[in-house]
Amino acid sequence: MKILAFAASNSRKSINRTLLDHAIGRFKSEIDDRAEFEVLDLNDFEMPIYSVDREQESGIPAEARTFFEKIGSADAILISFAEHNGSVTAAWKNIFDWMSRIDMKLWQNKPMVILAASPGGRGGAGVLQSQIASAPFFAGDIRASHGVGSWYDAFDAETGRLTRAEDIRKLGDALATLALEPA
Ligand SMILES: Cc1cc2nc3c(=O)[nH]c(=O)nc-3n(C[C@H](O)[C@H](O)[C@H](O)COP(=O)(O)O)c2cc1C
Repeated sequence: MKILAFAASNSRKSINRTLLDHAIGRFKSEIDDRAEFEVLDLNDFEMPIYSVDREQESGIPAEARTFFEKIGSADAILISFAEHNGSVTAAWKNIFDWMSRIDMKLWQNKPMVILAASPGGRGGAGVLQSQIASAPFFAGDIRASHGVGSWYDAFDAETGRLTRAEDIRKLGDALATLALEPA
């Protein structure tokens, strides 16, 4: 089973990347140690801001095609979304918009689990809701989601563990929904 994973943030100190790495570790230790994760960094997919003029003049950048193909070759997708002003980061929106010009059904019917980490108490509820609402239009099959709020209390950086029983359980339950896919 090949799982494509990324934090939808371009921050070098991304808490969503920390949550993603934690989730990958738990998936391997608790669910399927044979799962292969390919972890992408949005900084490797930086492109000019999407515009119809740029697309007409220069076409779709190679980075967008590469990302799209990586989705297509994965069995499942794990994402942790940073929330910026209630929505996705500009870094992710730009990649998403370019990919949508290849094919609007860019999630390619892959099973997905979406996570979010935020320093505030709502745990990125806005960005998670926006993704759950829009996924069907982009052929996304979101199996589960979980947002971890109050991040700096919720995650112990020294032990690399979540501190709240509810987060531990809900993250485990969310990850387990990907285990149903064939190996
Ligand atoms: C431009 C901007 C907008 C933000 N908007 C929100 C928001 O709407 N909700 C929220 O919970 N946190 C918001 N934050 C705080 C982010 O959750 C915080 O920066 C977090 O670390 C982002 O995740 P990352 O570290 O993975 O990039 C915002 C931060 C920035 C810089």
